[in-house]
Amino acid sequence: MADRRYRVAIIGCGRPRGAGGETGAARGIQHWHGYRASGRCDLVALADIRRENAVAFAAEEGDPASPPAVYEDYRAMLAEVRPDIVSVCTWPSLHAEMVVAAAAAGVRAIHCEKPMAPTWGEARRMAEAVRAAGALLIFTHQRRFEAQFRAARRLLREGVIGELVGMECCCSNLFDWGTHWFDMMNFYHGDRDVQWVMGQIDLREGRRVFGALVEDQGLSYFRYTDGVWGLLATGSGANLGAANRLIGTEGLIEVGPRLADGQRVAVRVRGRGDVDWRVPDISGDRPGEGGAVAAATADLLRCLEQGGDPELSVTRALRATELIFATYESARRRARVDLPLHIDDSPLLDLFERGEIGQAAGARG
Ligand SMILES: NC(=O)c1ccc[n+]([C@@H]2O[C@H](COP(=O)([O-])OP(=O)(O)OC[C@H]3O[C@@H](n4cnc5c(N)ncnc54)[C@H](O)[C@@H]3O)[C@@H](O)[C@H]2O)c1
Repeated sequence: MADRRYRVAIIGCGRPRGAGGETGAARGIQHWHGYRASGRCDLVALADIRRENAVAFAAEEGDPASPPAVYEDYRAMLAEVRPDIVSVCTWPSLHAEMVVAAAAAGVRAIHCEKPMAPTWGEARRMAEAVRAAGALLIFTHQRRFEAQFRAARRLLREGVIGELVGMECCCSNLFDWGTHWFDMMNFYHGDRDVQWVMGQIDLREGRRVFGALVEDQGLSYFRYTDGVWGLLATGSGANLGAANRLIGTEGLIEVGPRLADGQRVAVRVRGRGDVDWRVPDISGDRPGEGGAVAAATADLLRCLEQGGDPELSVTRALRATELIFATYESARRRARVDLPLHIDDSPLLDLFERGEIGQAAGARG
């Protein structure tokens, strides 16, 4: 099996900023580099409604001896090329339909970009469609493979800060960036079940990120079934001094703290026996040559061949996504939300469409 090769297709090619791109992320290229690093994947097709993006991708990344086929219609690509593995690297509103179509076309493994989907119902349905088709589905919560986060979890597991009490994170919004931090708190705490979520959102301008409406400020406070709590603060006022903070009975671990001189360090710890912060050696926590996406891809191929759940599994992505929508739901209900979450929509979109948040609410206020 070790020499098995896979035929890979990318949906949503992007163009990096500076190369005529509009958003700059062009995640499709990152995904391809992850496959390429495995040494066992061939790029057989590219689909993009902007043909020029796929053509440029093919020219820069394709094998001249066997160039990838270029399609504008991803459904035609799936039907004609029948790839083994597909990456979905479009904006969130398109993820569900593309993942479902790929599963229906017999694709064996799908690597979809985060966030899962704009509603909780779409996120659950895409997971169910792929499960029913017997395929593998992962989402790009690739920070699970990055050194600073792995180091923080290792130090926690080594007992350096005693028992975990709670975790704090901050970022720009609950949906686009927050999906990473919800997933990261789950990662630190061993993907345990969450019991309840309390949340609030403030939305004034109606800002969109990758086409998805996001709050201007948000707060999510939740508790795992073992009593450990998580806190995610978002938006302009959300500066907790570090991207992630792990609070233990005997100390603290910080990921991405901003120091007094304005510098950021990857990780620092002040644990049992430490008189001051120290910066641990994290060289052993690095994901290897190709970086985090390559490590995630290697893990996906291993699971395809040997079974098991990939580190970036849809099951874990759903756990993070449930926290996003439960936070919105708590704001809608003005109450604590006990999990599992029994809604289908996005309460943020519902509140916005009803004029309870957003410009209309701002005008009333
Ligand atoms: N994991 C991460 O760290 C990370 C970082 C940045 C962005 N992202 C996510 O990656 C996703 C993609 O973002 P991006 O910046 O790469 O986007 P992008 O705009 O660079 O590329 C998206 C591509 O999809 C194409 N497209 C649009 N509609 C299509 C359709 N119907 N069929 C085929 N192609 C279509 C566009 O023409 C474009 O080329 C988003 O969900 C974003 O949140 C993840």
